[in-house]
Amino acid sequence: MKILFIGDIVGEPGRRAVKELLPKLRERHALDFVIANGENSAGGNGITPRTAAEIFEAGVDVITSGDHLWDQKEVMELLASESRFVRPLNYPPGTPGQGSGLFEVRDRKSADGTPLVVGVVNAQGRTFMPAIENPFLVVPPEIERLRQQTKIIFVDFHAEATSEKIAFARMLDGQVSAVVGTHTHVQTADEQIFPGGTAYLSDAGFTGPHESVLGREIEPVIKRFVTNMPQRFEVASERVVLHGAVVEIDEATGKAFGIRRVSETLA
Ligand SMILES: [Fe+2]
Ligand SMILES: [Fe+2]
Repeated sequence: MKILFIGDIVGEPGRRAVKELLPKLRERHALDFVIANGENSAGGNGITPRTAAEIFEAGVDVITSGDHLWDQKEVMELLASESRFVRPLNYPPGTPGQGSGLFEVRDRKSADGTPLVVGVVNAQGRTFMPAIENPFLVVPPEIERLRQQTKIIFVDFHAEATSEKIAFARMLDGQVSAVVGTHTHVQTADEQIFPGGTAYLSDAGFTGPHESVLGREIEPVIKRFVTNMPQRFEVASERVVLHGAVVEIDEATGKAFGIRRVSETLA
């Protein structure tokens, strides 16, 4: 089966890119399932039920998140009641929402006639990021639990440091189908299949305006670095690109046998 993962959707331009490009990508790659990181989908900061609904309507099956989770207070509604929304697993016990989920693939059955199920896990790194529970300790038992239900497991590891991302994915090699990184908004070129059959990419990149600094207007960001004074970072508008990766997975074993980066410009 083929899963498309879409890197951080930034603001209205990002949502527009998903809406317009996803139907074409679904057809071109014969996609079975689509996961997208939505942590910047509301004006670049956080996610709301409205922006999530737009992303789901565009054809995304599951939305993951990250450190921008709390930017919009309306996210509480998603955490309370949206089963297709996954937040980082390694927040303290008692945090609303879910850090993983099991999702049936539409119109697909496994070889034995039972529904084909994908497990999705979202976790957040700790290096150069806010303090949070240790993902290296919290995630493996969750993977073990999910593996009782399905071997097809996709992990969005939302983290800054490439060393943390690679070490985390190496730890999970053979236990999950794919570990794809998010958060830096810069797509890396290190896609590969580890020896145990886990597909890996350090960062999927971001979906939104690329004539920017990570999706924001360029000048205020430069000014911030030059003066150290706070600035308003508005979402930019030009050269809208959808970034992500397509992972091909053997449904019987859950092992990946292909990973290809996606970079699709909105005409
Ligand atoms: Fe982001
Ligand atoms: Fe982030």
